[in-house]
Amino acid sequence: MKQKLQILIFLFLALRVPAQDKLFKIAVDKPVAAIAPTMYGVFFEDINMGADGGIYAELVKNRSFEFFRPLMGWKVEQEPHREGAVLVLNRKGQNTNNPRFLRVTLQPGQRQALSLTNEGFRGMGIKKGLYYDFSFMYASMESDIKIRVSLRNAKGQAIGEAALVPPATGGAWKKQEIRFAATDTEEKARLKISIEGSGVIDLDMISLFPGDTWKGRKGGMRADMVQMLADMKPGFIRFPGGCIVEGFDLSQRYQWKKTIGPIEERQLLINRWNFEFAHRPAPDYFQTFGLGFFEYFQLAEDIGAEPLPILNCGMACQFNSAELVPLDQLDPYIQDALDLIEFANGAVTSTWGKIRSDMGHPEPFHLKMMGVGNENWGPQYLERLQLFQKAISARYPDFKIVASSGTGPEGERFDLLNRGLRAMNIDFVDEHYYQPPQWFFGNAKRYDSYPRTATKVFAGEYAAHPAGVAPEKKNNWLAALSVAAFLTGVERNAAVVEMASYAPLFAHTEGWQWSPDLIWVNNLNVWGTPDYYVQKLYSLNKGSKVLPLTMNDEVVAGQDSLYASAALDEHTGEVILKVVNALPRAQSVSLSLTGLKKPATIARLSRLQSSDLYAMNSAEHPRAIYPEEIAIPWSGKQPSITLMPYSFNVIRIK
Ligand code: AHR
Repeated sequence: MKQKLQILIFLFLALRVPAQDKLFKIAVDKPVAAIAPTMYGVFFEDINMGADGGIYAELVKNRSFEFFRPLMGWKVEQEPHREGAVLVLNRKGQNTNNPRFLRVTLQPGQRQALSLTNEGFRGMGIKKGLYYDFSFMYASMESDIKIRVSLRNAKGQAIGEAALVPPATGGAWKKQEIRFAATDTEEKARLKISIEGSGVIDLDMISLFPGDTWKGRKGGMRADMVQMLADMKPGFIRFPGGCIVEGFDLSQRYQWKKTIGPIEERQLLINRWNFEFAHRPAPDYFQTFGLGFFEYFQLAEDIGAEPLPILNCGMACQFNSAELVPLDQLDPYIQDALDLIEFANGAVTSTWGKIRSDMGHPEPFHLKMMGVGNENWGPQYLERLQLFQKAISARYPDFKIVASSGTGPEGERFDLLNRGLRAMNIDFVDEHYYQPPQWFFGNAKRYDSYPRTATKVFAGEYAAHPAGVAPEKKNNWLAALSVAAFLTGVERNAAVVEMASYAPLFAHTEGWQWSPDLIWVNNLNVWGTPDYYVQKLYSLNKGSKVLPLTMNDEVVAGQDSLYASAALDEHTGEVILKVVNALPRAQSVSLSLTGLKKPATIARLSRLQSSDLYAMNSAEHPRAIYPEEIAIPWSGKQPSITLMPYSFNVIRIK
C-alpha cells in the first residue's frame, strides 16, 4: 500500500512535465575528470548463504561436526539400533581448530551397516552427467569396512553412487577420495554414506564438490556464481564484508589469519547472520572459511578486480555488543593489518609471503588498499583508526586506507566522521546508504558540492530499498531505475567518487537474511536482478574521462525526470551517454556533441526498460528485465533519440 502511494505521488509529479524538445550538450573536448578504473566494483559478504551454501561449492553442511549441534545436517540410521555405534569425539587438547570427529563402531564378527545422510544446504544441487568429488578424512586401526556413497533425489532414489574400501591407517589421519557421476538432475539431493562391515573408523571433513568448479579448482567455487561477477568486469572486490568483519563481539570478529592454510585447520566460526535477525533465523549458518583470504585474493585476480579487504579496527558491532579493545591493546589488530599486506605482497622469503607462496601463489597479489573498520562510528573509532593509519603509512607510505563514515549518509554520526576523516587526510571515506528509491532519485546531485580534495569517496554499500513488508524488500525495477539515476551523479563526480559497490551481492532464495540483493541463486541456478544489469551496464561502459553534459546550462539531475551523464572512452574513441527516463512515457532528446575531431558515425544503445515498476527477475523469468542491444540511426548535427518510458539507456557513439 505504502509502495503504491509512493509510486502514485511519483507519477503525479512526473506527469506534470510538459512534452517538449530537450537538448543535451556534450563537450567532447573538455573532459573534466578521470574516471578511476576501480569505479564500479562488487561487495562480497557471507550473508544470505553467500559463501557457505553459496559461492563456496562445498555441498556437505557441517562437514567436520563443528556446528553448535555436532550432528546438525546429518541423519544417522541403523537397523537394529545399537547404542554408541556413532559417537562425537572431541580432541581439543590436540587440535583446537578442528576438535570434533565422528567415531563409527561396527561390532567385530558381525556384518553390520549404518548410514549417515547429509541434507546439504537446503538440499544439494546435482546436475545430470556431472562428476562429483567425494572425500573424507579418516583414521582406523584394523578394520574391514566398506563405504558406499550415493546421491539421493527427493524421492530417496539413487542418482549416482560409488564404493570404496579405505585401508587401515594404523591410527593416522588420511584422506580418501572418489569421483563419480550423477545420473540425474536434482535441486534437493542428499548424500547418503553407508558404512558396512566390522571395525572402528574415525571420520572427519566429509565433503562433496561438483566437478565443474570455477577454473576446475578442487574444493573451489561455484562457477556460475563467479561467472556473474566476471561478466561485470568489476574494478574491485570488497571482502569479507560487511558486519561480518566486526562480529557480535570481538571473539566473533573476522580474523583473516584463521582463514588460510589447509582447510581442515581453518577454525569454524558462527556466522553473525545466524542469529542477527529474529525474523530470519539461520541456526545452521556457520563460516567454515573454505573460502578464506587466499581464495578471495585469487578470486580478485581471476576476475581482474583490485582486492579490497576490510579488517576489524578493534571494535565489535556497535549494534550488538559494542565491545572495544583498549587502545593500549590494539597492537595485535594493527599487526594483523601489516601482516596482511605482507601476505598479499611480500617476498616469498618474508614470513607471510612464504605462506602465500606455500599455498601456491609465489607472485604477489598487488594489494594497494584496505579498509579499517566496517560500519564503526564515534570518537572511539577515530582514535583507533589513527593508530592504524600511523603504523600502516610508516611501513607502506603509498598504501591506501578506506575508513568508515558509519551506517548512514547523513546526520551527526556521519558529519563527525566525515569531518574527522578528512582532517586525517584519509584516502577513502566509505559511505553506506540503504534508502528508498526516492532518496536515490533525489540525491543525484549529492556529490556535486563535495570538496575536490585528496580524500575520495568509496560508496561502499548501497541499495534502493522499495517500501514493502519487511524483510521482503524486493529488487524491483523502480529500485534499479532509481539507482541508475543516482549513479549518473556518481559518474559526473568521478573526481570525488572513485569506487562504488551495491550491497549485498548474493542471496539464496531459501537462505537469505537481507533483501534486496544483487544476484539471487538457488541450488541449481543463478540470475541477475534488474539492479545487477544496471551495475553491469555501468561497469562495462564506464569510460575513462567525465565529459560535461548540460541541458539548459544545468547538469541533468531530475529535470523532466531525466538523469544523465557522459564519459569518453579513450581506448575505443567513443562517447558514452547514460540517460535515465523516469517518466511513464517516452521522451525525445536531441544531442549536440561539440569538439569532435571527426563527425560521429554510428551509435549503439543498450537499454534496460519496463513499463512495470514492480517487475522483477526470478528463477522462472531470469530475463524479465534484461538489456536489449539496439543500433540507432545517427545523422545530422543534433540527432534525436527516443527514451522509452521508465528506461535506463547507455548509448555508445563512435
Ligand atoms: O550489506 C548488509 C549489511 O549492511 C552489511 O553487513 C553492513 O555493513 C550493512 O549494515
